[in-house]
Amino acid sequence: MTGMARGFTGCAVDNGGAATTTESSAGRIQASTAELPEPFTLPFRVPAVLKPVRQDDTTDYYEITQRVADAEIIPGATTEIWGYNGTFPGPTIVSERGRQVVVRHRNELPVPTVVHLHGGVTAPEHDGFPTDLVVPSGWDATRDEGKGAHEGHTPGSGSPAEVTEVERDYVYPLDQPAATLWYHDHRMDFTGPQVWRGLAGFHIHHDAEEEALGLPTGDRDVPLMIADRTFAGDGSMPYPALDPALRDQPGVTDEFHSGVLGDCILVNGVPWPVMEVAAVRYRFRILNASNARRYRLRLDDGPSFVQVGSDAGLLDAPATHDELDVAQAERFDVVIDFSDHSVGDEITMVNEHGDNSTEMVMRFVVTREEEDDSRVPDRLVDLERLSTDDVKVEREFVFERTSEDGTMMWTVNGEPWSPDSVAARTVHATVERWRFRAKNVEHPIHVHLSPFQIIERDGNEPGPFDRGWKDTVNLGNGGRADVLVRFDGFRGKYVFHCHNLEHEDMMMMGNFEVV
Ligand code: C2O
Ligand code: CU
Repeated sequence: MTGMARGFTGCAVDNGGAATTTESSAGRIQASTAELPEPFTLPFRVPAVLKPVRQDDTTDYYEITQRVADAEIIPGATTEIWGYNGTFPGPTIVSERGRQVVVRHRNELPVPTVVHLHGGVTAPEHDGFPTDLVVPSGWDATRDEGKGAHEGHTPGSGSPAEVTEVERDYVYPLDQPAATLWYHDHRMDFTGPQVWRGLAGFHIHHDAEEEALGLPTGDRDVPLMIADRTFAGDGSMPYPALDPALRDQPGVTDEFHSGVLGDCILVNGVPWPVMEVAAVRYRFRILNASNARRYRLRLDDGPSFVQVGSDAGLLDAPATHDELDVAQAERFDVVIDFSDHSVGDEITMVNEHGDNSTEMVMRFVVTREEEDDSRVPDRLVDLERLSTDDVKVEREFVFERTSEDGTMMWTVNGEPWSPDSVAARTVHATVERWRFRAKNVEHPIHVHLSPFQIIERDGNEPGPFDRGWKDTVNLGNGGRADVLVRFDGFRGKYVFHCHNLEHEDMMMMGNFEVV
């Protein structure tokens, strides 16, 4: 199968330019011209866990340098990445409820960056508002100040702060339940290319309730960051940016307006890796960190997924799935039990939405028997259920394509994102019902600050993947989801947006303000 994916252009279905949808994902495939490795030949690995540089009574302090680095992703080739500490994925931060985390990010990249802790309940000035840039040394910051959130910004309204030079401390109280969080770049107009180059990492958050359950831990608690990429013959990961230097002009070339899809599936930065496992239970924290690709995962000749957690924490009870639909930014915390398998068995994780090279994700090979004292209890955690009786305000947000003066944009209720606008002003700690509708293509919708509960999908009961507290909801083309949300924790201005990163960069974002 060597080179199978080479020059692969197979299945880009053209629905008339911008509305291209392929493999159940909005977007167009950029074909690799590199010779891609044969699937299931490269060893699986997990990102390194970051050590704090210091700790005090309340807080763990970390430092991360964002820099350009060379990686060997395709064997024998050198790929330039932009990485947190020069790695892709970035290092994993592990935290425990009750302790605050402060991460000092240093930007040694050639362009501004912003870090968002996705799923974190974080004060607005630390949440990675898209214009809260950390600019590199020597960057003319005045050119960013004018176009930012701070134009017309009312002091004291809780709107995010200022552009900082080179370094910024992000403070994460993390007074929230155990969950699989992740951090990634969120720079206005340029999130897509900057995440594509490698700016994404895990943040795994624990609490005592979770630890008491007896779920698999240690080496058997494994993050899986799934992301598609494209490799050129020289090893680089091309991205169809209008300005390849990512300095001035945002956006991608016309044919990629709906999204940039790769033909090489990486798990934790390795193409189609193979993981050696014991015939025991493992916990996998599945994250779709792709720009535009959605997956339908299944274990070929393997066990089911036993879901124990959603985006924002554990479920009340486990849910079994033969297939798992995972849209961009969603996390599924699952247990896979290999104990019915014998040494030598191979179990392949496939993507039913894929085609040829994108049909394969990774492989597990059972190499040994081991003791297993883990368990998956029938009851996990007590979940508060938000009630429609408490709804104070209902709002509807339509995610659709519009064009203005011949420029195609992705908008929310017809409006392109502006740092200064406010699409919803919501009262702290009250329950609201938000209805999201997707037009033209599918859109995964993400709300910062507070998780939500999905109460209705397309007018019916929520779907199998809608359980628990979510921060991202996957909408099909024409689809609709109603969620209950209660913004507590902090007041201030935050964003909600489509997590197809090309749509987000092309303005499919809105602001809400908690007052
Ligand atoms: Cu994962 Cu606003 O982003
Ligand atoms: Cu979208």
